[in-house]
Amino acid sequence: MVETDIKTLLNKMTLDEKVDQLIQLATLFYKGAKFDGEITGPMSDLGITETVIQNSGSVLGASGAREVIDIQKTHLQDNRLQIPLLIMADIIHGFKTIFPIPLAIGCSWDIELAEKSAEIAAHEASVSGVHVTFAPMVDLVRDPRWGRVMESTGEDPYLNSVFARAFVKGFQGDDLTCDTTRVAACVKHFAAYGAPEGGRDYNTVDMSERQLRDIYLPAYKAALDEGCEMVMTAFNTVEGIPASGNKKLMRHLLRDEWEFNGVIISDWGAIKEIMPHGIAADASEAAFKGIEAGVDIDMMTSTYVNHLKQLVEEGVVKEGRIDESVLRILQLKEKLGLFENPYRGANEQLEKSVVLSEENRVVARELAAKSCVLLKNESILPLNNDKKIALIGPYANNDDILGPWSWKGKGEDAIKLIDGLRGKIKSDQLRVAKGCEINSLTEASVNEAIKAAEESDVIILALGESSNMSGEGNCRANIQLPTAQLNIINVLSELNKPIIAVLFNGRPLDLHGVSDKVEAVLEAWYPGTEGGAAIADILYGDVNPSGRLAMSFPYYVGQVPVYYNHYNTGRPLNPDHPEQEYVSKYIDIPNKPMYPFGYGLSYTTFKYANLQLSAETISPDEQLAVKVEIENTGLVTGDETVQLYVHDQVGEVVRPVKELKAFKKVTLEPGEKKEVTFSLTERDFRYYHVDLTYRSDQGRFTIYVGSNSEDVLEQTVELLHNN
Ligand code: GLC
Repeated sequence: MVETDIKTLLNKMTLDEKVDQLIQLATLFYKGAKFDGEITGPMSDLGITETVIQNSGSVLGASGAREVIDIQKTHLQDNRLQIPLLIMADIIHGFKTIFPIPLAIGCSWDIELAEKSAEIAAHEASVSGVHVTFAPMVDLVRDPRWGRVMESTGEDPYLNSVFARAFVKGFQGDDLTCDTTRVAACVKHFAAYGAPEGGRDYNTVDMSERQLRDIYLPAYKAALDEGCEMVMTAFNTVEGIPASGNKKLMRHLLRDEWEFNGVIISDWGAIKEIMPHGIAADASEAAFKGIEAGVDIDMMTSTYVNHLKQLVEEGVVKEGRIDESVLRILQLKEKLGLFENPYRGANEQLEKSVVLSEENRVVARELAAKSCVLLKNESILPLNNDKKIALIGPYANNDDILGPWSWKGKGEDAIKLIDGLRGKIKSDQLRVAKGCEINSLTEASVNEAIKAAEESDVIILALGESSNMSGEGNCRANIQLPTAQLNIINVLSELNKPIIAVLFNGRPLDLHGVSDKVEAVLEAWYPGTEGGAAIADILYGDVNPSGRLAMSFPYYVGQVPVYYNHYNTGRPLNPDHPEQEYVSKYIDIPNKPMYPFGYGLSYTTFKYANLQLSAETISPDEQLAVKVEIENTGLVTGDETVQLYVHDQVGEVVRPVKELKAFKKVTLEPGEKKEVTFSLTERDFRYYHVDLTYRSDQGRFTIYVGSNSEDVLEQTVELLHNN
């Protein structure tokens, strides 16, 4: 019988057993595991003993009920105190039913469906034996060169915070102990991993504490406020100190100020990487910095297990530090009910009915359609089904549409674009030709594409980045489509046939040579298991596209970082006078992105009118009602995401020209008019002052409401202050 009194159990553990509880190893170290775990990061020689494995606290990358049961059973036989393992894995946007990448889900602005996708992912993972998922990733991003923008919900603190809460709620539910269909969530990567210089993964992050708190931290805090059980450290430095050894960030801010007392796990190898960062002369010093920063679990290095015991025996580290970490890990195991049932939700029978079920696919298809963003449409979409179609491009018949971090997702289970179209039109209406590979083309492939196009009415060009051009470590300095694909667009655009470009990619791209050459552009991202069906639903009008960009598309990569919530500067460019000199502008391109945050087209049109505020002034204890009229002025029903932004006209520090503070999705029939209302309070006008206090000032605020961050109506309100 394993002690359920955690403290009693802790007191029974030897120092070796306590220290070994702090290591996390991949499945290949465990008996009973068939090695198919996801290996990322440096896999250096760990130099550990069999005893360490028998005493270890958690395993990374195990999943599949049989595998987990075998690993856990063997482990319990070998572990002196029968302390069960925590089973953790990267279930980021689906377990086997793969949803669109998080950047795509961010473009859905559909919070309920995002939560549902996490709930489904948790259910599939829990019956497959997983206890903890390394998600949500809530790193705010402004630089599309970075490979992991695909994993984020975008460039806005408020939108990221709303999604962070939804994902945590979906993964964890309301009661992790009783509801074994859910898993513990682990928010990552703390902190500001999405801001590496040059958009180059693992590169230096350096910013003011105010920028960190105003822009980059809110979504982590939102996840923790929603009860997220774990935090994962980031690889990067914050204020010159690697996050995994950063006591100010981890112990003083996360644990003391935010009162987070859950488990902190390092990212893969990050404790040992404190050395190459250059703030630890050896592994012993790295172990010291990690444990003093309050990082409990050392993922995939032996730094803790090979040095902490000696540091304690030498009196450099208090044993109490080790006890704190072990206690947090044991408490998480207890909360997950692992001492009563070490196998928790693992169930080979249930696996068969739950994983990749038809009902899960239905949700994946709906979310994929809502995550697509219609960027351009010159009256070519939606298609009617009597047209002859030439489906051309490397993504015409390609199952690489799940995107990075798609855990057990398999391409063979995916609905490809060709499959989706075959569900809409007869086979004799569809001609398919690859035209080019992702990165290459031949004269023969081009000629085959030309032939298919000449025999058709419309060209659907399925283009994009292969999934290994996106995700961890896969950063691009050139964010255009590969040259071969730009060439095929040039060739086909000479045929005077309407072209619809459908893009499969993991980042905002520089769409020069694409948008200017085709009649329509549908951004489909990596849409997941049901991607082809969802895209076909949009192309044929069974779904009216409603996606809105969660991250700006730059005009050129030279413009990066470009984002909507920028500061005004002392010499702002007047867009009506681009000829002005000595203002903040480029002489060769506009300042604005090609497609701004919040932008997306519909098959209908919406008119905004009569923006009204309930008052011209409000005091700190009053609410401000904001209302606006939205009318569907088109011919089909559509979903509109009404966005509300605020601008603080004068702050103690400079304030963004706009900040998203609220949004509402409304469905309108053709000709229908609705009044949409919002409520703002003084809390919506707060920011970090020079002294880093978070409060509002008296002053004037511009209230914007519109369909994206540029096309808005505006009014002004004054916030009065008692002091
Ligand atoms: C990776 C990623 C992290 C992931 C971890 C475990 O390097 O940075 O997001 O959860 O290792 O796979």
